[in-house]
Amino acid sequence: MLEAPVDIADTKLPRHIAIIMDGNGRWAKQRHLPRAAGHREGAEAVRRTVTACREMGIQYLTIYAFSSENWKRPADEVDDLMGLLRIYLRREIKELDEKNVRLRIIGDRRGLAEDICQLIDEGENATKDNTAMVLSVALNYGSQAEIVEAVRRIAKAVKCGDMDPDDIDEKMISNHMYTKDIPDPDLLIRTSGEQRLSNFLLWQSAYAELIFIDEYWPDFDKKALATAIDTYASRERRFGAREN
Ligand code: IPE
Ligand code: IPE
Ligand code: MG
Repeated sequence: MLEAPVDIADTKLPRHIAIIMDGNGRWAKQRHLPRAAGHREGAEAVRRTVTACREMGIQYLTIYAFSSENWKRPADEVDDLMGLLRIYLRREIKELDEKNVRLRIIGDRRGLAEDICQLIDEGENATKDNTAMVLSVALNYGSQAEIVEAVRRIAKAVKCGDMDPDDIDEKMISNHMYTKDIPDPDLLIRTSGEQRLSNFLLWQSAYAELIFIDEYWPDFDKKALATAIDTYASRERRFGAREN
């Protein structure tokens, strides 16, 4: 039995929430623990957040798990993160499926280990018919690289005569993104007090409401999510038009 949704008028509920899950390292440092412990707790926060979003009736949740720039970190931290990802993918697929959640990975798979790609394929396949929520996990994701790839594909299509340059518009460019079949985020949350996008969904977040919260990601919970949704609900989105 699903819990009743939080008391927020459905019309004010964001359809798509995107989250930059930041602050695992600082969370661990504060406790004199290794960074890996912060990442482990971060994975727990992912489970909590997926469940909370599902219960609240959020249709799309997109989380930034590993950026294309995170390869710059020391090899042992990258190994820890990839190890946690393997554990998450092995453990959570069944639970996601039971919750009727569809899993998708966005990002450049070419940079990922073969066994991880296989786990991703299995997870996406096992959950492909689920309808309650789409969970997109951004892995080896960089927004600028995504845009470059889209431009390259469009340029090739134009060059070989399959596309007219006059047909290029916003919709068409959106259709060349990893996110082509999901709506743009309504609400983008970043934890840990940093106020930047760090190359996440730059194109897609053109009109997202941005909420920066001070808590570190491992401390993020249902209450923090509900507070962010409340703040979102109190904002007036104008999309360039005039307020009433
Ligand atoms: C977010 O936490 C997790 C990833 C970027 C993979 P960080 O590891 O960036 O934590 P801080 O920002 O150093 O505290
Ligand atoms: C953004 O966090 C990437 C993820 C949350 C996966 P970072 O910690 O990598 O971002 P910067 O380096 O502080 O901008
Ligand atoms: Mg960080």
